[in-house]
Amino acid sequence: MKTDSKTIDELLKNWDPDPNSLRVRVNGLGHYYGTGDARKQVLFNNTLNISPGEIVIMTGPSGSGKTTLLTLIGTLRSVQEGSLKIMDTELLGLPSKDIVELRKNIGFFFQAHNLFESLSAYQNVRMACELVNRKESEAKPKIEQVLTRLGLGERIHYKPKSLSGGQKQRVAIARGVINKPKLILADEPTAALDAESGREVVTMFQELASQTGCTILIVTHDNRILDVADRIVNMVDGHISSNVMVQRSATICSIIREFPAFSELTASNLTAVADSMELRRFDAGQPIIQQGDVGTEFFVIAKGDVDIVIDGNRVNSLKSGDYFGEVALIKDQPRNATVLAKEPTSCFVLDKDEFRSIIDASATFEDEVRQAIFDRQ
Ligand SMILES: Nc1ncnc2c1ncn2[C@@H]1O[C@H](COP(=O)(O)OP(=O)(O)O)[C@@H](O)[C@H]1O
Ligand SMILES: [Mg+2]
Repeated sequence: MKTDSKTIDELLKNWDPDPNSLRVRVNGLGHYYGTGDARKQVLFNNTLNISPGEIVIMTGPSGSGKTTLLTLIGTLRSVQEGSLKIMDTELLGLPSKDIVELRKNIGFFFQAHNLFESLSAYQNVRMACELVNRKESEAKPKIEQVLTRLGLGERIHYKPKSLSGGQKQRVAIARGVINKPKLILADEPTAALDAESGREVVTMFQELASQTGCTILIVTHDNRILDVADRIVNMVDGHISSNVMVQRSATICSIIREFPAFSELTASNLTAVADSMELRRFDAGQPIIQQGDVGTEFFVIAKGDVDIVIDGNRVNSLKSGDYFGEVALIKDQPRNATVLAKEPTSCFVLDKDEFRSIIDASATFEDEVRQAIFDRQ
């Protein structure tokens, strides 16, 4: 299980469940190639929501439909079936003039880099700036900085024929990020790069994601870069077969592992518990649980501060990373306190039934949980 030094707030910044903030919303998406007898379905009823600033890595066997999905999201292919929204614009049936407009927000990196052979590295990148009418005086230092950052400082004025495959790939990457796109789509961006330049590219992607809220979808088999993913999506035979929130699981696990009842859980049970928790939001002043109610849920505070109130008196407050309501997982008894959100608050919520179904497999574990909860009271 991966842990890191980022604060919980930092890790959670991308998990705002507000549906309007989603950068990419795929719903019931299917796709077919060919016509008549040769018509073949290659994507089946796929659903995927990606938030601003999220880095999603897509893996899966060759031919499973990854590039097809990526090019649909990138507006390079027409949507045939289902819904696909980019920044709240529905692509199904969208007129081409609107597609051209939308595409200005998207940075692409495909295996074929498509550089202009007659233009230098600098000029290839400048072309992208011209598309959005950026002044040369303003663009020049940025282009030079980005090319230098990608290890091309000595080759800014070289033409593609004088650059290696990896160097050409990096020019294409500079061209793709120079306008700070809101969405970056990359198909095997590090395949042709050595470890060091591959790392430089993903570090730059990460910076764009955290500094500009840019959303990044990377198709890759390069397991050297899996650690940058907030989420890993696995595609098999045209279906998204698993969709794992890496950061989210790791963060929840690192919180609940501190809780005695969970400390003995195996890593896979812990992850199963974390993945079954749902993010729920509460407004300032809203009660999250009420004293006297029989509760069925356990809460971990993802963001925000709460007050613990017993018989109308505030007795304590809790903040992000703290938890409450754990007795409900084991016993049907009235809540002994009310918990009020002091400010807009998000919590990960674990339902007793979900929890039980995960731990039912392990009788000894259940005894430990009971003991731990009773000890804590
Ligand atoms: N332009 C095309 N015409 C017909 N079939 C295609 C075309 N592009 C891809 N396919 C087929 O669609 C399926 C998915 O391909 P693709 O999206 O490229 O998968 P991946 O990127 O995962 O390797 C494969 O069976 C492939 O042969
Ligand atoms: Mg492909």
